[in-house]
Amino acid sequence: MTLILILAVVVLSVVALVWLRRCSGSAKVRITTTDGRSFGTQGGSNLFLELRKAGIDLPSTCGGQGSCAQCRCRVLRGGGRITEQERPYFSQEEIKARWRLACRLTVQRSLLVEIQDSANGHGKRRA
Ligand code: FES
Repeated sequence: MTLILILAVVVLSVVALVWLRRCSGSAKVRITTTDGRSFGTQGGSNLFLELRKAGIDLPSTCGGQGSCAQCRCRVLRGGGRITEQERPYFSQEEIKARWRLACRLTVQRSLLVEIQDSANGHGKRRA
């Protein structure tokens, strides 16, 4: 009986720990690009900075402050919903096509990202 109780406490502790790590956004996640690059990072990190650390420099004139709209990429999986801060930079078609501003995206789970050379020149603010 005591052994079962100890086992139950251990299992519940592990479940609670996993849940807390997921909620705090610090779980390990993986960022994969459609051209075959892949690397791990911590949940809660910034996509723009993580790509830069991995040697993938998206265009930027604002230094990741969310105002130049040059850090565009398509997040094909795991990006969640577009934020209100990003929305003015994209048409409805682009939102449906999963375009995002990398500097405004907090990585919560593993992502599949498409980086395009043509990212420059898009994303003129319409508001
Ligand atoms: S780096 Fe300028 S908007 Fe993202």
